[in-house]
Amino acid sequence: MKYYNNVLELIGKTPLVKLNKVNKGLKPLILAKMESLNPGASVKDRIGWYMIEAAEKSGELKPGSTIVEATSGNTGIGLALTAAVKGYKCIIVMTSKISMEKRNYLKALGAEVVIVPREAPPDSPDYYQNKAKAIADSIPGSFYANQYENPNNPMIHYLTTGPEIWEDTEGKITHFIAGIGTGGTISGTAKYLKEKNPNIKIIGTDPIGSVYKSYKETGKLSEIAPYLIEGVGSENITSIVYFDLIDKIVNITDKESILMCRRLTKEEGIFCGSSTGMIACAALNEAKELGEDAVIVFTVCDTGERYLTKYHNEEWLKENNII
Ligand SMILES: Cc1ncc(COP(=O)(O)O)c(C=O)c1O
Repeated sequence: MKYYNNVLELIGKTPLVKLNKVNKGLKPLILAKMESLNPGASVKDRIGWYMIEAAEKSGELKPGSTIVEATSGNTGIGLALTAAVKGYKCIIVMTSKISMEKRNYLKALGAEVVIVPREAPPDSPDYYQNKAKAIADSIPGSFYANQYENPNNPMIHYLTTGPEIWEDTEGKITHFIAGIGTGGTISGTAKYLKEKNPNIKIIGTDPIGSVYKSYKETGKLSEIAPYLIEGVGSENITSIVYFDLIDKIVNITDKESILMCRRLTKEEGIFCGSSTGMIACAALNEAKELGEDAVIVFTVCDTGERYLTKYHNEEWLKENNII
């Protein structure tokens, strides 16, 4: 008989899919790494599972403990999925920017969802990371996963995402393009790929209004501003963005990102959200400068089902001046 012992065994080993239409006229092979095919439908299943496994092994997480996390949703889903299978309670703190689909999915998985105002600045007790930390501090024996500082976040991408891409491209990958939320995906994957071949170019993608691009270029934080793309960008710098392994960081606008996620869906059948649209824009821009030998891999971070009331909803697009 062929079967898996539980859904957690389905995490990772995601396939690469070739772009055929949105890249018309461009020479490189462009491959989408389908993280949306994870059981919780995002790249964050990997870290949700691994941060819990590591905390169990270190003794930080014990049977009956509560897991607490601050997230733009997908890490919460990865944690809540693992918590459901393993029998932990989960409290997830998110801002009011986050889609209703993610909030309801988390509740369906049995997590408690705490929403804080999206406007709360990093020095406010209502800032989502401060709130999560305070909740964790108030519950004896709880485990604050803290994806923004947890070295097991980049580690699981070093152990799985990087090797999968290297093996599936038979070592022919020339460019890896990802978004930067916590920085876990790009940092861990870059570390593995650069160890295999230091010539592989690593390109980070940042929404306008986030601080990563200016920090990479000047060492200084730029002024923060709100943007519509969910799950990527930051107001501050964390220890798990390995800037020395990232060759460059490019900005993509909200409008370009959202329109591209709709094109990927309609033309390629790759149902995704705006962070994937943003990353795909960067991949296509890069491809303009490259020849037939280039092999570009970019991440499809999660599924468009998570944004049916936003990027895939015409009323919302009109309200937000996208169309
Ligand atoms: C939709 C989405 N895309 C991309 C990312 C970025 O991944 P990372 O945190 O590994 O940089 C996230 C992170 O939360 C996300 O939710």
